[in-house]
Amino acid sequence: MFPDYRPRRLRKNENFRRMVRETSLSVNDLILPLFVTFGKNKKNEISSMPGQFQLSVDKLAEEAKEIHGLGIPAVILFGIPEHKDELGTDAYADNGIVQQAIREIKKTVPELMVITDVCLCEFTSHGHCGFIEKGDVDNDQTIDLLAREAVSHAKAGADMVAPSDMMDGRVAAIREALDEEGYDDIPIMAYSAKYSSAYYGPFREAAESTPQFGDRRSYQMDPANSDEALRETELDIAEGADIVMVKPALAYLDIIRRLKDEFDHPIAAYNVSGEYAMVKAAEKAGWIDGERVMMETLLSMKRAGADIILTYFAKDAARVLGR
Ligand code: PBG
Ligand code: ZN
Repeated sequence: MFPDYRPRRLRKNENFRRMVRETSLSVNDLILPLFVTFGKNKKNEISSMPGQFQLSVDKLAEEAKEIHGLGIPAVILFGIPEHKDELGTDAYADNGIVQQAIREIKKTVPELMVITDVCLCEFTSHGHCGFIEKGDVDNDQTIDLLAREAVSHAKAGADMVAPSDMMDGRVAAIREALDEEGYDDIPIMAYSAKYSSAYYGPFREAAESTPQFGDRRSYQMDPANSDEALRETELDIAEGADIVMVKPALAYLDIIRRLKDEFDHPIAAYNVSGEYAMVKAAEKAGWIDGERVMMETLLSMKRAGADIILTYFAKDAARVLGR
């Protein structure tokens, strides 16, 4: 007790602080999301996500080189197809927008790991994450399409697939389909505890995937629930998930910690579009030190128990970490 014990002794200078620091953030922890769009020579800035762009395939080589040069190990791809339809056909087409993007990156920078988001909302005319029947997403028909999508990504050269749809049983369906096609070495990073969140607002502008009717509450999780996140994660692990994810991250740090305590699989946290937009907006207004808030936020996710962070800040953070 005070005055014998004085915690400030170990905060006296930077060397003491370095010595007793419990958590660290590394460029190795980061995955950068990329939005790939149809057409040529496109680099459209996303207005609600300053510094993030929709890129056409021909712009990817240069981008991939820069990302790899910064030491970031992986990207996760989202696609904006030229044509959307009821069944999200472009999502599992051999020459779909994401399939083209995978081939382009693996051709130019093979060392950069390419992860794909496996979902249908960017590809369906109605903007929902699956096949619609009687006004709602039909679970079992959707998982067949998701399995086709995952196999199609693997065929194009993806290093890992990440289902983000929240259908029941999709991890097992994808695992089985990948194994049948000879892709038993391709891991699955499952969006296991994915909440129905207002923090996805800017992403829906970026990916042009806002639902045309209703919302996603019949498949994404209720923000009030925590025990349910454990059940969802347990199922995904049982079905074959190699990495489990919590999304969003910042408002769900307690969920990350519960998963960390409960399971021993690697945990990913998705620092989503709205979390990025808030920091950028407040920084622009001159209300916060954006760089310090960014680093503190990413560190909080590590401290909560995340091993991996998907973040639009990946390049900014890599530059800070490299100084
Ligand atoms: C697709 C998907 C979404 C995000 C990642 N994958 C949007 C959604 O579910 O509406 C959100 C990512 C972000 O906000 O940064 N299912
Ligand atoms: Zn979706």
